[in-house]
Amino acid sequence: MAKGKVITIAQQKGGSGKTTLAVNLGVMLARAGHSVAFLDTDPQGSLGRWFMTRFDAGRADGMEFSTSSAWGVGYEVGKLRDMADFVIIDTPPKADSDLRPALRAADLVLVPIASSHVDLWATDGVLDLARRENREVLMVLNRARAGTKLGAEISEAAKDLAADLAQTQIANRVAYAASLGDGLGAVEGAANPALRAELDALLAEVRGALDTD
Ligand SMILES: Nc1ncnc2c1ncn2[C@@H]1O[C@H](COP(=O)(O)OP(=O)(O)O)[C@@H](O)[C@H]1O
Ligand SMILES: [Mg+2]
Repeated sequence: MAKGKVITIAQQKGGSGKTTLAVNLGVMLARAGHSVAFLDTDPQGSLGRWFMTRFDAGRADGMEFSTSSAWGVGYEVGKLRDMADFVIIDTPPKADSDLRPALRAADLVLVPIASSHVDLWATDGVLDLARRENREVLMVLNRARAGTKLGAEISEAAKDLAADLAQTQIANRVAYAASLGDGLGAVEGAANPALRAELDALLAEVRGALDTD
């Protein structure tokens, strides 16, 4: 079997949507017929809580879950890549040397930026580290507030950062928060068409970024 592709989700700012992206990307990939391994390197363990809730509900077929310390990532990913089509690594809110193994392991680094200036300011650290590891990066605006002045300001400013910005924006929707607690992806509830469309579009962009290595 070919080795799985590795997506690391990183952003220094807590609450930017790393775990939300990890979960929803994983669910979208699984729904597209891929096996997915999640690796939680955040001691807070929210990805693990999500996975166990899902597992207990009997909905984790085709999925694997594992945890690792910052320094164990390379070893763990080596195993998971042999088992799954995609490995999704969730990381703690840090941009220091502890993050480097998770970046080094990545075929693509996804950087969520929640719709605030504070999140934007926090982004350079991760971009610097990813550049030093020579990794491909895709930034994703999360909790986007379409049609607001703040939303427009943040998306303009994000274009000036030194990495590619996904065209797709993930909107601020209660469904993202609610589904996480239920061990689900947001599309697995009574998802509205706009939510489905944004996740489909993000998946397509992520696949595109992975194919252009
Ligand atoms: N697009 C979104 N719409 C609504 N709530 C969101 C969205 N993205 C994240 N959240 C909520 O924001 C909080 C922080 O998100 P989380 O994914 O845990 O961030 P991180 O892992 O970066 O700390 C959670 O309560 C989550 O449900
Ligand atoms: Mg998290």
